[in-house]
Amino acid sequence: MTAEPLRAENLRKIYTVKGAPPVEALSGVSMAVHPGERVALLGRNGAGKTTFLRIASTLLRPTSGTIEVFGYDVDAVPERARPYIAVVPQEGKPFFHLCPREQIYTYLRARGLSRETAKSRTEESLVRMGLTEVADRLAITLSGGQRQRTMVATVIATQAPLLFLDEPTIGMDPFARREVWASLRDLTTKGSTILLTTHYLDEAEALSHRLYIVERGRVIVTGTADELKRSVGGTLKVVLPGAAGRASEFASFGETVPDGGTLTVIVAPERLGELMDLAVRSHLTATVGPVTLEEAFLRVVGRKIDEE
Ligand SMILES: Nc1ncnc2c1ncn2[C@@H]1O[C@H](COP(=O)(O)OP(=O)(O)OP(=O)(O)O)[C@@H](O)[C@H]1O
Ligand SMILES: [Mg+2]
Repeated sequence: MTAEPLRAENLRKIYTVKGAPPVEALSGVSMAVHPGERVALLGRNGAGKTTFLRIASTLLRPTSGTIEVFGYDVDAVPERARPYIAVVPQEGKPFFHLCPREQIYTYLRARGLSRETAKSRTEESLVRMGLTEVADRLAITLSGGQRQRTMVATVIATQAPLLFLDEPTIGMDPFARREVWASLRDLTTKGSTILLTTHYLDEAEALSHRLYIVERGRVIVTGTADELKRSVGGTLKVVLPGAAGRASEFASFGETVPDGGTLTVIVAPERLGELMDLAVRSHLTATVGPVTLEEAFLRVVGRKIDEE
């Protein structure tokens, strides 16, 4: 396997809707995911993330453009691409008439794994995702988070070379989320490659080597979380309560974000001293902290929306 796990070139998708105008969900998306990478696809609701993942995982056909999984064109030869991939679909549910143990085992057997391997991987995955106590209960009796754990446990157990996870940790408690992160990190150290979507930007930051931000069917930013933060002018923020009306005095330091009465200024570390001097002279209290990926995302996507 020398080809990239995933490569998309100028991918477009137009949904035709009966009695309504067509929807252009992807308007020329190009992306490459390298071996062993964990890449997060971010974007607002309706940006096109699920559409991209569904095309990449052979569930939906593109309107134009190409997309390859390990060198196989997923539209021309989906049957060649499928053995390499496993998917947690958005809002996927385990089979209601199966228990988690049966669901995982059956799925692994259907993918062609031997009885012994399927059995040991099932048990390992149940333990890992904290499902042992409910492993033999019908899926309909499980809580929402337990069902989602079952979906992720099933896909993690495949150890497939390329995993697509569409909002994998939705509805999970903070412990379960961390278990998913650890499992996904383990898989990539063993050679798998991962493309996931999430609206939890702490998750994107904790988990991904690289990000793509999609807005209205186009990639508007790609890079690391740190690069994204630097692109909004700095990795530090200064929070100034009561200074929302004084944004212009601080505008020369970087992006200013009024929120309620508070003003937040994003600043590069080398200009922090100067900013703090001004805050003191202005009789303001100031708190310094790191810029979060969420703040950078709001600025970058917000700017794009303003431009349009
Ligand atoms: N089957 C469909 N028919 C028509 N339009 C669709 C269909 N599926 C999705 N769309 C539209 O395509 C666009 C992209 O949807 P998509 O589900 O890819 O977004 P998303 O980025 O995954 O959003 P979310 O964060 O809400 O999951 C949206 O405008 C959506 O309304
Ligand atoms: Mg989606």
